[in-house]
Amino acid sequence: MRIFTLILLVTLTLGSCKERILKSAILPSDFHQTIGGKQAKLFTLTNKNGIEMSVTNYGGRIVSLMVPDRSGRLEDIVLGYDKLDDYINSNEQYFGAAIGRYGNRIAKGSFKLDNLQYNLAINNPPNSLHGGAKGFSSKIWDATQNGENELELTLVSPDMEEGYPGELKVMIIYRLTDKNEVAIFYSASTSKSTVLNLTNHSYFNLHGAGNGDILDHILWLNANKYTPVDANLIPTGNLDPVTGTPFDFTTPIAVGARINDNTEQLNFGKGYDHNFVLNKKEDEKVSMAASVYDPISGRFMEVFTNEPGIQFYCGNFLKGKEVGKKHKQYNFRSALCLETQHFPDSPNHSEFPSVVLKPGEIYSSACLYRFSVK
Ligand code: BGC
Repeated sequence: MRIFTLILLVTLTLGSCKERILKSAILPSDFHQTIGGKQAKLFTLTNKNGIEMSVTNYGGRIVSLMVPDRSGRLEDIVLGYDKLDDYINSNEQYFGAAIGRYGNRIAKGSFKLDNLQYNLAINNPPNSLHGGAKGFSSKIWDATQNGENELELTLVSPDMEEGYPGELKVMIIYRLTDKNEVAIFYSASTSKSTVLNLTNHSYFNLHGAGNGDILDHILWLNANKYTPVDANLIPTGNLDPVTGTPFDFTTPIAVGARINDNTEQLNFGKGYDHNFVLNKKEDEKVSMAASVYDPISGRFMEVFTNEPGIQFYCGNFLKGKEVGKKHKQYNFRSALCLETQHFPDSPNHSEFPSVVLKPGEIYSSACLYRFSVK
């Protein structure tokens, strides 16, 4: 009898120590770390169709996203690392991350608001990029998992953090729906007038992260115009028509079809690294912004948003130095980002849609990536 009890106890103890094995093969315990008194973790969301997504509250990052191809085979289609330490020490700081306070560049890291001048960290000389030296992508967010398919992240960013005015209360909800959508909802409020532009910086490769480049992905962008840039990737202020240029994705075409054309704009971006002005019907809130199709795997991704713009960046700054999940190297143009957003450098362009958030107002932004096969 005693021996039986002992065996039972040992079995139960071993069983409870056993770690959940994710389809992505990532070990959640590799994300458990206390940083600055806060606990970083990995959360796993699942839906009824077997899609699995993992998110860490370190930077609100989508770490893995297991999506089926046309034969039902799951593959992890976002770039990233399988250990928290690798995220912390990476040269590429934004894999899968929540970006804030300001997605993309602010020229020379300065802007004026209500006649006051604000100066930000120049972390991408000569500009400020993605919220500055320690943006939302490197914060430990407070996290609450709501059931199998939803994660709620919250953060209080103090007044003048990274040079931005106003104490900001931010919430991000990641929801993995049974329609195979990754829905991201952002909301925020501020104690003082400020500027805000939140987005997510997932790097997608529909072949699977680390499985070659994305030049054969067929892209459609619902944009008749884009915002051309100067040599420092700051918008000139013009909204140029895409017609007759390599920026015309209004008819689906391979990303690589014209990427090496010798044009000033492609040379500035070292490929595509531009904001597109989304076509919107009057009063249209959330609308379809983009789609990407991988003819090899059949994976199809559609992007929806209420934002006026989308940054199409195709990994021109990846150089194979990053060794990601499963020891795979992330080479030049081995992923693409479709970051729903207001336009870069809007605080210095009164002609662009406003990014000002005032006390009493609620910032609200949505981005939805929907997956299917063709
Ligand atoms: C920017 C790129 C930048 C990248 C960093 C993109 O949103 O447009 O210029 O290199 O983020 O990961």
